[in-house]
Amino acid sequence: MRAGVILAAAGRGERMGHPIPKQFLELAGVPVYLHSLRVFEDHPRVEEIVLAVPPGWETRVLAQVRDLGLLKVRKVVCGGDTRQASVERALRALSAGIDTVLVHDAARPLISRELVSRVLEALERYGAVLCAVPVRDTVKLVREDRVERTIPREGLWLAQTPQGARREWLEEAYRQAGQRVFTDEAALLEAAGFEVRVVRGENTNLKITYPEDFRMAEIYLRLDKPDKV
Ligand code: CTP
Ligand code: MG
Repeated sequence: MRAGVILAAAGRGERMGHPIPKQFLELAGVPVYLHSLRVFEDHPRVEEIVLAVPPGWETRVLAQVRDLGLLKVRKVVCGGDTRQASVERALRALSAGIDTVLVHDAARPLISRELVSRVLEALERYGAVLCAVPVRDTVKLVREDRVERTIPREGLWLAQTPQGARREWLEEAYRQAGQRVFTDEAALLEAAGFEVRVVRGENTNLKITYPEDFRMAEIYLRLDKPDKV
């Protein structure tokens, strides 16, 4: 297996409401995207990494990555209007020899090396894998302020990243998707009829979405990696 990673870092962070996209804001003194990038750079089974960044950020990010000596970063590409478009562009920039692709949200800085290993191990057996955690709370379908119904949480899981697939599967899923837009690679693979397997994610693997998430992420970082904060 020859694994490449796509780091999706081309969003605008509209819910964050900050002029700088959230993945470039600092978390514990380091830009958010560099936290997960380092985990992939240091992971022995990851061969190369392609980053998708917003238009205009390519040169800056490449310079930062080179300054830090992150040698696995093969390319920094300009992302698209949707996450799907960003990942598709990055997919084309992976070297020909890469046969397994992991996709990760740059907005999830707290992944562990063990989680990456778990997803990669599962990818040796299955063609498509995502990590997810079981829903803990009761789920309500709400319209306006009215509860329409309660959705039993049994069997409901929250999808996280990294997600991954055999490169051929992912490329085929993109071909079949055409103009339809999906929110993650797993959904794209499912729609193309590929079976997606689940491995256990981590509750600390939060996606930075709103300003308050930075405080939570710093607390988790301090608990897990006291030397880094
Ligand atoms: N992403 C991307 N290209 C896009 C949109 C999103 O690469 N066109 C990336 C984001 O940078 C992020 C991940 O996909 O790392 C998950 O997306 P999300 O958390 O929704 O980030 P944003 O789209 O930036 O935030 P928002 O939806 O609040 O605008
Ligand atoms: Mg978004």
